[in-house]
Amino acid sequence: MDKLVINGGKPLSGTINVSGMKNAAVPILLANIMIEDECIIENLPDISDVNRSLEILEAMGAKVTHLEKGTVKIDSRNIIPCSAPDDLVRKMRASYYVLGAELARFGRSNVASPGGCDFGVRPIDQHIKGFETLGATVSVSDRHIIALTDGGLQGSSVFMDVVSVGATINVMLAAVKANGVTVIENAAREPHIVDTANFLNACGAKISGAGTDVIKITGVSSLHGVTYGIIPDMIEAGTFMVLAAATKGRLKITNVIPKHLESISAKLEEMGATVEEGDESVTVSFTGELSPVNVKTHPYPGFPTDMNPQMCVLMCLANGKSRMMEGVWDNRFRYVEELKRLGADITVTDGKTANVTGTPDSLKGASVRALDLRAGAAMVVAGLAAKGKTEIDDIFHIQRGYENIVGKLQDVGADIKIITVSES
Ligand code: EPU
Repeated sequence: MDKLVINGGKPLSGTINVSGMKNAAVPILLANIMIEDECIIENLPDISDVNRSLEILEAMGAKVTHLEKGTVKIDSRNIIPCSAPDDLVRKMRASYYVLGAELARFGRSNVASPGGCDFGVRPIDQHIKGFETLGATVSVSDRHIIALTDGGLQGSSVFMDVVSVGATINVMLAAVKANGVTVIENAAREPHIVDTANFLNACGAKISGAGTDVIKITGVSSLHGVTYGIIPDMIEAGTFMVLAAATKGRLKITNVIPKHLESISAKLEEMGATVEEGDESVTVSFTGELSPVNVKTHPYPGFPTDMNPQMCVLMCLANGKSRMMEGVWDNRFRYVEELKRLGADITVTDGKTANVTGTPDSLKGASVRALDLRAGAAMVVAGLAAKGKTEIDDIFHIQRGYENIVGKLQDVGADIKIITVSES
């Protein structure tokens, strides 16, 4: 059992580098199932969701060779259909991309129901609707999802009832080798959707419109290998931006695409922080008193739901009343009870709005748990801002999405370490 121990209350300053994006790396790795060739994937973060995706590929018969740090070669020629191991698939939400990729290559798929963070009900009806519209027969039980076709998929028009990152990518994967043209309407527009489409196009796919709400895919009969680098992680970058403001420090955050961070930069500036954009960096600094702010999370380009918990920490440190409204997930506020242990004054109404009464310097060190990935990131931000000692349990959630978080934060002056506690 590992835990994080933080002695907080010190400004962080220096340069901190952002790793490749988890939510682009996982679909791009699993899209290799579709490619009967060798690919080299670069800028992969060393995080457990990436390592599990590679384990899934290996267990299915791919040959994975680690080249230099963050770079792997994947030879997917000998992948065996319907062979993704249940225990690995259940550890990770995004393993549902095996479905779209297997349907594309083999015309059939059989995958265990996926795991992941608990934000209440997390349906995959839009993924299934998309596969069925392309001609698959899909059956879902508690434990497995089975999708079958009669000789492959047929391009069609798919209208998404909700804007879903996962369903947009999954239907895009499935459609790449379908017969004819597929149009996805009301598609999600996140940068990781564009990155996955760019990767597939580099492999010979014909996808246009990724990044808008209408994506057109003209089916191709084969894909070939490429060398491809994953884009930087906007949520890791956003977490560091909030951290600079929360600790009244100054962080130059490098290897970012500033355009992806605009909704976060705007809210930080509204609170009184300074955000300077470079070509591939943002520098966030702050001294003085943070102003309260209201935020509502939305699909991209709105304020990201995956920054809700971290931003809420900043609201606790502002002078006055702020509101965080969740517009994507049903139950994203489980972290609030943990923040209260650090002294936060927050009430949640209808499960959708956190009403925060902020007071500068109000947070004090305490023992808390990382309840999910971004909730855990928020505990790190809160612990570094709070005076005194904070201990964070269940840090495996944080390690799913943040590469070398301890080393990176130590390099900018954080007093943070990881300790192993023996279980009694
Ligand atoms: N939804 C449906 N039906 C579906 C799919 C989604 O109703 O078939 C609903 C969901 O219940 C939710 C909304 O649509 O209310 C958005 O869900 P989405 O499908 O976009 O989420 P996801 O693809 O499962 C990804 C990220 C999440 C991130 C969300 C929203 C990955 C692996 N996960 O999840 O990231 O919160 O998009 O941006 O890409 C994280 O990285 O910490 C994380 C949880």
